[in-house]
Amino acid sequence: MLMVGWFRKGVLMHLMLRSIVAAVVLVSAGAAAAQDGYTNIAQSFDGIGKAYMGREIASFMSHEGAPWLERPGREQQERTDKLVELLDIKPTDYVADIGAGSGYFSFRLSKRVPKGYVFAVDIQEEMLALIKDKIATGEGDNVIPVHGSTAGPKLKENTIDLMLLVDAYHEFSLPREMGQAMYKSLKPGGHLALVEYRAEDASVPIKELHKMTEAQAKLEMAAVGLEWVSTDSTSLPWQHLIIFRKPSAE
Ligand SMILES: C[S@@+](CC[C@H](N)C(=O)[O-])C[C@H]1O[C@@H](n2cnc3c(N)ncnc32)[C@H](O)[C@@H]1O
Repeated sequence: MLMVGWFRKGVLMHLMLRSIVAAVVLVSAGAAAAQDGYTNIAQSFDGIGKAYMGREIASFMSHEGAPWLERPGREQQERTDKLVELLDIKPTDYVADIGAGSGYFSFRLSKRVPKGYVFAVDIQEEMLALIKDKIATGEGDNVIPVHGSTAGPKLKENTIDLMLLVDAYHEFSLPREMGQAMYKSLKPGGHLALVEYRAEDASVPIKELHKMTEAQAKLEMAAVGLEWVSTDSTSLPWQHLIIFRKPSAE
């Protein structure tokens, strides 16, 4: 009986220790999640069930949405022509269109950099195929399709003068990792132009998770070391144009 009692006590102690260790592991995992900004949340329609710095990440647009990106009324509706004009670009610049989709902006940017390049980065092979098809017709011979990953655009470090992200960043499933990788690929002093539908404006006819506030954008870019330069929330009908910069001296 004595032996059995000791054995039971030993098993109990072992189980208690295991629970303590499990609790410690869980608490540290929670702390790590809080530290990197990610938290798991109840998935809403159109979201991925994960929040970053308090913002639920939207699910990304499938390549089947490409005709919407290329719709004839887009230029007038979103003043995409004005957006391209507003960007400070030199003819020799290396520009990256991150989350390029069908390449709507890549080919418009290509005309602005006749002596430079446009890296059209996307994670969907089908979107890149649309871009390659367009290049094959002779359009945009300085456009280079790049198959990025969800964690980074796979561009060389310190090479990009300007990154343009139109209606894409809010869909990145790993925004922190993407932000860190984009930061690395920018040249010191290089700019990142973030274009997102204005969440502050209820009249913008876009689903909530596909919009961002200026404050949230600033918070997330600051988290990866990008400095805010300017915000233009009036030139475009529906979107913010927010410019950030990688510091010149690190
Ligand atoms: C709504 S579309 C916008 C396309 C384009 N910027 C435009 O305005 O016409 C967003 C694109 O971002 C891409 N995307 C999502 N996550 C990405 C990531 N981590 N890196 C690069 N592209 C990504 C999607 O595949 C999709 O093609």
